[in-house]
Amino acid sequence: MSPLPDPSFNHHHGGEAAIDLHSIRTFLRQWFRDPVKMASVTPSGRQLTRMMVAQLPADCSRVVELGAGTGVFTRALLDAGIAPSQLLVVEINPDLSDFLRDRFPRVPVACADARHLDTLAAERGLLADGKLDAVVSGLGMLSMSSELRCEILRAAFAALGDDGRFIQFTYGPFSPVRRREREALGLRMHRAGFAPRNLPPATVYVYQRSRSHEVASVRRPPRG
Ligand SMILES: C[S@@+](CC[C@H](N)C(=O)[O-])C[C@H]1O[C@@H](n2cnc3c(N)ncnc32)[C@H](O)[C@@H]1O
Repeated sequence: MSPLPDPSFNHHHGGEAAIDLHSIRTFLRQWFRDPVKMASVTPSGRQLTRMMVAQLPADCSRVVELGAGTGVFTRALLDAGIAPSQLLVVEINPDLSDFLRDRFPRVPVACADARHLDTLAAERGLLADGKLDAVVSGLGMLSMSSELRCEILRAAFAALGDDGRFIQFTYGPFSPVRRREREALGLRMHRAGFAPRNLPPATVYVYQRSRSHEVASVRRPPRG
């Protein structure tokens, strides 16, 4: 991956410090409006952001980001070399979607529900030459119903390639995707790291198709 910074980043708001303040104010305003969906009072910090992006697979190119908020992960994905045309950001909040479009004019932003990510990625041409390499999720999964969580994961794994990764953080002590949900969806997981300096501290998990699931699909008997 070659670094491809988005040249638009600093233009509108006059430097890093101003951007951070602008982000924090925007985030906080949206949290007052809908604390459940926002799931956090402040954007993710640098330690957590670095840990999330470090979980991208080698030679990663096609990525969908869910629940981008004010775009801390978006910025880091671009800095890690993901081309804007190979990235799709899905953010349900209209004000935050406008904020993201203003900040990252070259990145497609869908103001939509993450549960439709497979359809959105296909519509935007992101699946034309292959499947996704990663889904990077900033969603507050703990505050969702099990049904919605599973719907989002089903859509993600419909769009992800065989070795594709679903990268998620949580403020809780356990995986936000419960064991029975993982089993029902045929997923394995690993705990990738803990970011104690984040506010609040957060743990990063990576979900992939389980090997037995892959074997089962490879060994499916021929028809007829
Ligand atoms: C915890 S914030 C994370 C923001 C950012 N990724 C970060 O780490 O600072 C969760 C974000 O997910 C968005 N969101 C919540 N439910 C969503 C859904 N079903 N589909 C898409 N975005 C959603 C919220 O609007 C919010 O911006």
